[in-house]
Amino acid sequence: MIDFQPTEEQRLLQSTVRDYAREKLWPRAPHLDETGEFPWPAWREMGELGLLGMVVPQEYGGAGMSTVDYVLALEEVCWGCASTGVAMSVQNSLVEVPILKFGTLAQKSRYLPGLASGERVGCYCLTEPGSGSDAVAMKATCVKKGDRWILNGVKQFITNGPQADVAVVYATLDPALRSKGVCAFIVEKGFPGYRVGKVEHKMGLKGSSTSEILLEDCEVPEENLLGQEGRGFTVAMATLDGGRIGIATQAVGIARAAFDEALRYSQERKAFDQPIANFQAIQWKLADMATRIDASRLLIHRAARLRDQGENHSVESAMAKVFSSETAVWATNHAVQVHGGYGYIREFAVERLYRDAKICDLYEGTSEIQRLVVATNILKGNYRGAGG
Ligand code: CAA
Repeated sequence: MIDFQPTEEQRLLQSTVRDYAREKLWPRAPHLDETGEFPWPAWREMGELGLLGMVVPQEYGGAGMSTVDYVLALEEVCWGCASTGVAMSVQNSLVEVPILKFGTLAQKSRYLPGLASGERVGCYCLTEPGSGSDAVAMKATCVKKGDRWILNGVKQFITNGPQADVAVVYATLDPALRSKGVCAFIVEKGFPGYRVGKVEHKMGLKGSSTSEILLEDCEVPEENLLGQEGRGFTVAMATLDGGRIGIATQAVGIARAAFDEALRYSQERKAFDQPIANFQAIQWKLADMATRIDASRLLIHRAARLRDQGENHSVESAMAKVFSSETAVWATNHAVQVHGGYGYIREFAVERLYRDAKICDLYEGTSEIQRLVVATNILKGNYRGAGG
């Protein structure tokens, strides 16, 4: 039995971040969309609010909160600005968590405080030009030479790549070893041979920067191996179990913003001498949006609670991600439809939300990969049913 009631502290956290998102993030989102600027002002504010190290223990400078706390705050940030939200999500889920979970004491002390405060930006480098869904097919290599590792390869579609000071990087001892050859590393931008490559121009989420990371005989001290040699694929997959809860949450934030816009517009806009909200065609869209958004959030909170309880949550994270992402794409499409032609022009937020939503279906594992994770676990007998 899972109790979904937030505590008093969680309600306070939610309302604080909601007010912040309404006052600061939502008004800035169109500018970020137009210019593609990284949201530096928000980054600094989120650092001060403790949003950039939410699950990092206080001894390492974090807020020491739970995954449930994290998703409550992240949904509000993503409601205000999805680009800002993904920067927060990558920092928390994809960079700090693997260091916290697999790092040595020295690695945690060296890297977590700067990341949690936002003084340093993090990124996660798994994908390559030739390996996305089949992550194990990576070509980037790592070779031990004396007290250093030498990394070579190209990492692609790296969120926060241009700004990152610290990267969690995956490379293989030998591609023929498949998952058994992968190693994870903590790489600093100042290490010799580390370079930012091509910066991508995207359909949406334009305030989030995405680039290649080039590794050219990149020298990494041996103490920066993250986890055990040859066990890096487990680091990558366990990290994505949590990251997918973050992207599901981002999707709900976007869908909720689209719902709010559609509701407001439908009550203001008149056709045939009455607000269009009076028409059943519009009412059913609003009803379906609200239902799917609530269902998505329940899936997210189930996965987050299992994670906080230390239970396996691969299936529940994947379910939350696929359902929430498809809800966001579906709901933003319907929100544009409610706006008619106005939904297709820049002055109306739903035009941006529609473009922002699509990425949720793609990154941190496509919807097809989420279904694969769910189905594989069902067939292996690892699915415990809706009771969680
Ligand atoms: N937790 C821990 N370990 C796990 C795991 C999990 N959730 N899932 C798999 N593993 C382990 C397995 O136990 C196995 O370990 P052993 O070798 O010791 O037996 C190993 O990993 C290999 O497992 P599989 O045989 O299941 O691996 P696979 O090659 O079949 O791949 C996959 C499985 C699900 C398809 C995986 O490749 C995958 O998730 N692909 C998608 C990758 C992805 O999400 N990429 C997004 C990158 S992040 C991003 O988008 C960038 C950004 O900046 C936002």
